[in-house]
Amino acid sequence: MKLSLLSVLALASSTSAFVASPQSSRVSTSTQLYERKPFITGNWKLNPNTKGEAIALAEDIASSVTSDSPGDVALFVPYPFIETVQNICGDKITVGAEMCTPEMKGAFTGGISPAMLASIGCKWVLAGHSERRTINKETDEYINAQCLKVIENDMSVMLCIGETLGEYEQNLAGPICELQLKKGLAGVSKEDMSSVAIAYEPVWAIGTGKVATPEIAQDVHEQIRATLKNMYGEDIGDSTKILYGGSVSPDSVDGLMAKPDIDGTLVGGASLSGESFGRIINFQA
Ligand code: 13P
Repeated sequence: MKLSLLSVLALASSTSAFVASPQSSRVSTSTQLYERKPFITGNWKLNPNTKGEAIALAEDIASSVTSDSPGDVALFVPYPFIETVQNICGDKITVGAEMCTPEMKGAFTGGISPAMLASIGCKWVLAGHSERRTINKETDEYINAQCLKVIENDMSVMLCIGETLGEYEQNLAGPICELQLKKGLAGVSKEDMSSVAIAYEPVWAIGTGKVATPEIAQDVHEQIRATLKNMYGEDIGDSTKILYGGSVSPDSVDGLMAKPDIDGTLVGGASLSGESFGRIINFQA
């Protein structure tokens, strides 16, 4: 669903979430008080081609996860590979699905329900990835239904949000993220927020090689955290993990992860190489 610029601006001006000075929201970030363990995740998208290649890639990635790795690791992989990758990764890496249908049963050809995913031990599901929003025309309402059903089926959901290049150039990153958060999380209770992580993925940075600078990403993450505090209170705002995604590479990960409100990464292209993703998993804190 496309939003008119006016409706976005109206929403931005009707909220107090973005009037806090950078200084005050930085102070209330309290990363020191809320130890958010880093969460490094990969999204394989429509890759690799075969089960054999998926096995080789999963083995390569799993070999990079050691007791010295600084955070938790998860891989979102195509459905046919979920159980195979789970078997390879054991408890080193959590395996998730790249989407699900909110419908639970019946005449929905091609559908994959949250209950099906939960029954094979899937722990996480992505919702609202920009490619699903644009290519598959998933609306905020559909994405919201996915979030609610994933949580209802005892899995965690990573809600992806982010602005287009045009929106970024009009200074609308914060308001767009606020709107997508409010619509995507409608009906998600404060208690359920322990099953939610947010991935900020500016559309202009996905697959383009144009990674957001750590400063740009931190600024938007701070605004997203302010919105979460506004919606759910200080403690939820402080404890919810917010990951950055968009052309993350071995070269950019350390600078991004150094920022106080960036709790992890959602990596596309670079998660298809054991060497690159291994370096990202073992970022230098
Ligand atoms: P890239 O890392 O390839 O830019 O993809 C990011 C992404 O969309 C992860 O979900």
